[in-house]
Amino acid sequence: MPSDIGVPTSLAAVDGPLPPQQADAVRALHHAAARHDRVPPLSEQPLLWLSDDEAPVVHLLASLGPEQDAAAPAGTDAPLVGYAQLDVGSSTTVRAELVVDPAHRRRGVARALLARAAQEAERVPGRRLQVWAHGDLPAARATAKAVGMVVVRELLRMAVDVTEHPPAPARLPQGVEVRAFVPGQDEEAWRRVNARAFAHHPEQGRMTSADLRAREAEPWFDPAGFLLAERDGRLLGSVWTKVHPPGDAPDGAPGEEVGEIYVVGVDPLAQGLGMGRALTSLGLAHLRDRGLRTVILYTGAENAVAVHTYERAGFTRTAVDVMFGPPAAGSPPHGTPLVQVNEHDTTSSPDDATMGT
Ligand SMILES: CC(C)(COP(=O)(O)OP(=O)(O)OC[C@H]1O[C@@H](n2cnc3c(N)ncnc32)[C@H](O)[C@@H]1OP(=O)(O)O)[C@@H](O)C(=O)NCCC(=O)NCCS
Repeated sequence: MPSDIGVPTSLAAVDGPLPPQQADAVRALHHAAARHDRVPPLSEQPLLWLSDDEAPVVHLLASLGPEQDAAAPAGTDAPLVGYAQLDVGSSTTVRAELVVDPAHRRRGVARALLARAAQEAERVPGRRLQVWAHGDLPAARATAKAVGMVVVRELLRMAVDVTEHPPAPARLPQGVEVRAFVPGQDEEAWRRVNARAFAHHPEQGRMTSADLRAREAEPWFDPAGFLLAERDGRLLGSVWTKVHPPGDAPDGAPGEEVGEIYVVGVDPLAQGLGMGRALTSLGLAHLRDRGLRTVILYTGAENAVAVHTYERAGFTRTAVDVMFGPPAAGSPPHGTPLVQVNEHDTTSSPDDATMGT
């Protein structure tokens, strides 16, 4: 624990599930911060992992009071003032989310949690610490800067009301025809085009036929909302949509089903012909015809072409998540914001977030 903590604060690291009392204390801290900051600090996966005995995580608990025995933190009654969850399931990165009680901020609690998280990452040579911050709050930016971390990824959530912004008619290049995906037939062609379209995207570009089949087995999968654009039988691009049941997605009214443009991909050979715009329109029209009003998507903020395409279709930004990490070798020192595509987080960011790009 660093010596610059201004209040008596202790830090305990717990491998494995938290005892119910401590898990409840973390949830209470999460809710207090969400009310204060107007954005939930922990995403769904870390909340689920609080009491999951299979979760590949380390819990860091910062409490008021004297130093505790880190090996036996359970049962402490000291008030919890900060919490970080470290996802240690990868050999290359430790992903973290953290929250400090609004009543105990600016006292070095986050610094202490981040210092301990960095130690954890360094236990494996070359492993990097990456911290997700939801809502792009000034305090999170300032804290990251104070500890020498920079923005390594920004993820936008965008939304459109298709009753206010009806999808433009899709103008496809000559000879291009659209049909629905056929399960059992189109997987391999789609996977190949997807890999080319997302060649620079480590997560989406690596999607295998098995990954695709796993999604086909999901209750939301509907081939009628998965459209392929072909010329002379050759696949050039696709739009894949998804429908969230009420309460499952942000940005909808209570009780409302919400649509999502889940993946739009165009073969690099066919890019620049207006296919991305046309496929987005077709996806939106499909969702509107299903009776939906709100459609969301997730995209990397650095993907200027995608953001521009979605803004033209009426989407506006509704949220941003920021990932902080150490500066890349040779980059400017401390705190200079860098935006670059990094490894996609499938656990602590919104549902398959970067697939909307
Ligand atoms: C971001 C957060 C974790 C900071 O917690 P904290 O315990 O208040 O942070 P610390 O006291 O350790 O601050 C470390 C340094 O960050 C900077 N900092 C933190 N909050 C700041 C703010 N609101 N304005 C300006 N600088 C700030 C300062 O340089 C601070 O040092 P100082 O207090 O000596 O000036 C807290 O605001 C929070 O829980 N926010 C919601 C969740 C979140 O955004 N998590 C992601 C964090 S990357």
